Amino acid sequence: MGDHWRSFMKRFHPEGIPWPGTVLYNALSRSEIFLRHYQLVAHDIARYGEAGCILDIGTGPGQLLWAMRKVMPDTRLVGVDISPSMVTRARRNMETYGRDPRIELRVASAEVLPFAGGTFDRVVSTGSLHHWKDPIRALSEAHRVLKADGYALIYDLVRDMPEGVRRDLRTQFGGFRLALLCLHSFEEPFLDAEEMGALGRQTDFEVEGTTFTGAFCCLVLKKAAHSLGGLGHAATDCRGSFCCLRASAGIGSKTEIARMAEKDMNPYRQAKLA
Ligand SMILES: C[S@@+](CC[C@H](N)C(=O)[O-])C[C@H]1O[C@@H](n2cnc3c(N)ncnc32)[C@H](O)[C@@H]1O
Repeated sequence: MGDHWRSFMKRFHPEGIPWPGTVLYNALSRSEIFLRHYQLVAHDIARYGEAGCILDIGTGPGQLLWAMRKVMPDTRLVGVDISPSMVTRARRNMETYGRDPRIELRVASAEVLPFAGGTFDRVVSTGSLHHWKDPIRALSEAHRVLKADGYALIYDLVRDMPEGVRRDLRTQFGGFRLALLCLHSFEEPFLDAEEMGALGRQTDFEVEGTTFTGAFCCLVLKKAAHSLGGLGHAATDCRGSFCCLRASAGIGSKTEIARMAEKDMNPYRQAKLA
């Protein structure tokens, strides 16, 4: 599906999944192939080390929160979703599974997260990125609410799932279940892996790459320890008594550089050492 189809759908499709789509999606999320994927993703997230607090954006019925709770029992888990009906569903699911005070659910948009900067050790998301109307803004929000050195792990299905991955999934779950998983794209088209990486490169994150976990392509983004805003990918070199800060074209956040220019915060001038 091309860019025209994508922009058409983005314009006319509501961003969150509304009722009664929430009822259907909740039922799908309990199917074997979905549950197996939440487990796989929860284990994959745990590989990035201990985390005190994790945010799940576009949490839907909250199944990933529950899977993470089993794998990381001491972690505080916060799920947000733009659809109030989805959050109601997730709350109901959490009550059915057994209330846990470490799990919190809120209605919120990925593009305006109601959290202070540096709140979370990880930001994760499954199957939601292709719904976001302004993914760069959403990823920039993820960057803001992450602690330095934290990871954002953004999992989504992609148009160009490698044939080997598709074959393994078909063998494991059968073609019908795999088709159920891909129903995600019925409403809004998926990106491809390269497009996911390109989104990351337009933010302040360091893009570590994309990997596959089951059917999901994961965009691995790291908030640099000493994040310099849009110049997170900058390099320095010294000439005489001057230290020059160079932003790598096309890698640092263009929005941040534009903002600095607007405020006359010339990054080159700022870096000049007296
Ligand atoms: C396909 S569902 C995936 C739900 C869940 N993460 C999972 O893997 O089962 C996508 C979810 O993203 C939510 N969503 C879409 N756009 C959003 C946004 N801008 N901010 C927050 N949530 C959003 C939808 O309401 C929906 O619940």
